[in-house]
Amino acid sequence: MTVDTTRTTESASGGRRPVRFTEPALAARAARVLRDNDTGAVITAAPRLYPHMWSWDAAFISIGLARLDVQRAIAELDTLFAAQWRNGMVPHIVFTDDDAYFPGPDRWGTDVAQDGPRDVRTSGICQPPVHAIAVRRVLDIARRSGPHDRIDAERFARRIWPKLYAWHRWLVEYRTPGSSGLIAIVHGWESGMDNSPRWDVPYDAVHPGAALPPYVRKDVRLVGDPAERPTDREYDRYLWLIEEMRRAGYDQRTIVENSSFLVGDVFITALFAVSCDVLLELGTEFGQEPEQLADLADWAAKARAAVAGSCHSVSGMARDRDLRTGRWLDTQTIAGFSPLLCGGAPDDVQLKLLSLLDSDRWAGNPDLLAPVPPSVSPMRPGFNPRQYWRGPQWPVVVWLFSWAFERRGWQDRARKLRDGGIRLTEDGSFGEYYEPFTGEPLGSTDQSWTAAVVLDWLCAF
Ligand code: SER
Repeated sequence: MTVDTTRTTESASGGRRPVRFTEPALAARAARVLRDNDTGAVITAAPRLYPHMWSWDAAFISIGLARLDVQRAIAELDTLFAAQWRNGMVPHIVFTDDDAYFPGPDRWGTDVAQDGPRDVRTSGICQPPVHAIAVRRVLDIARRSGPHDRIDAERFARRIWPKLYAWHRWLVEYRTPGSSGLIAIVHGWESGMDNSPRWDVPYDAVHPGAALPPYVRKDVRLVGDPAERPTDREYDRYLWLIEEMRRAGYDQRTIVENSSFLVGDVFITALFAVSCDVLLELGTEFGQEPEQLADLADWAAKARAAVAGSCHSVSGMARDRDLRTGRWLDTQTIAGFSPLLCGGAPDDVQLKLLSLLDSDRWAGNPDLLAPVPPSVSPMRPGFNPRQYWRGPQWPVVVWLFSWAFERRGWQDRARKLRDGGIRLTEDGSFGEYYEPFTGEPLGSTDQSWTAAVVLDWLCAF
């Protein structure tokens, strides 16, 4: 599909869903969101609520951008990786000059870090490693778009490969403590699923000290209903963990040893496994060092085994592990389907997961507006259809599963998720997340990564 970026005819619905855009009009609107959120230096994650560059947002945004302008997509990833820490970590936020977001660079105080980048201010944690997937997608799109784009994207893929390798190596070196093989996170924000019930038990063990500096949240003023956002109790814990890291000078070994929150994240581990596969394919094509290719094969195999090893013996669902207590965390969230992203689970477990995904406990629930999985099972006690990661559907997560299913050769399933994702977003608001029964957009509207994945779906090969 050719995207006409100059013409959109209708405005976003704002609240309910009076509008259904045709696919070309939806694509044009998505393109406009990306253009409007472009500061000239970065595409912000969203206007107002998220006026900076976020790591995994930027990866998805580059995929959408590649459908419009391959050079701009490359620039976005280059900007993110210019902020890569010297130890290999890709930070979760690269700050712009905008001060409308809290916690901003002063609160993070990463200037104390030995390994931080010199010319740009960033947060001090990471986000899911989806960047190799983005580079692969940008390259594939560029190869179909013409010889100049192809040459540029191939040069770019060669150039960024060592940085991606260093990022993956950082995750292995610093974030695979203990024997579970799961990649550990030291803050719920690293998971991308900030207030998911996945983290309730570990957060109960985080006790904000009296030394927590006072703060004022800005996010709750910027969304229509503050109840769509995490609670103040949760924010106290988010901020306390930052305080702990700051006191540790952002030294990774100290943080992993002492942080009050250390959890093996099964969703990140699955994404890491498949990202290692992709990086290995790219490295093989571009003649990278055999030892580094062997590392990637090894890391992918170990991560895949860790994901398979986390599966519950009855439900089959993959589980996170609290690495402070050594306990598995049993929650009915979308992360339970992680083995479907990366493969490696025994056939009977995989079949169980697929049938659970299709069931009325998940994407097959007859009350859903669009048949795509919500962040939490609608049948789980505590499911909240409006609150951030406690129930709503997230188009970007749907994209990840549709991409992974296509890669695994499950074309019908991939198509079904893609169609469901379009159904969810066809009101043209590009919500950050959606109420699963009414399809009401929640959180921010004009969210860049939502626009980006919709563009990718609409322009699919
Ligand atoms: N998602 C977080 C926020 O809401 C930050 O990563 O601010």
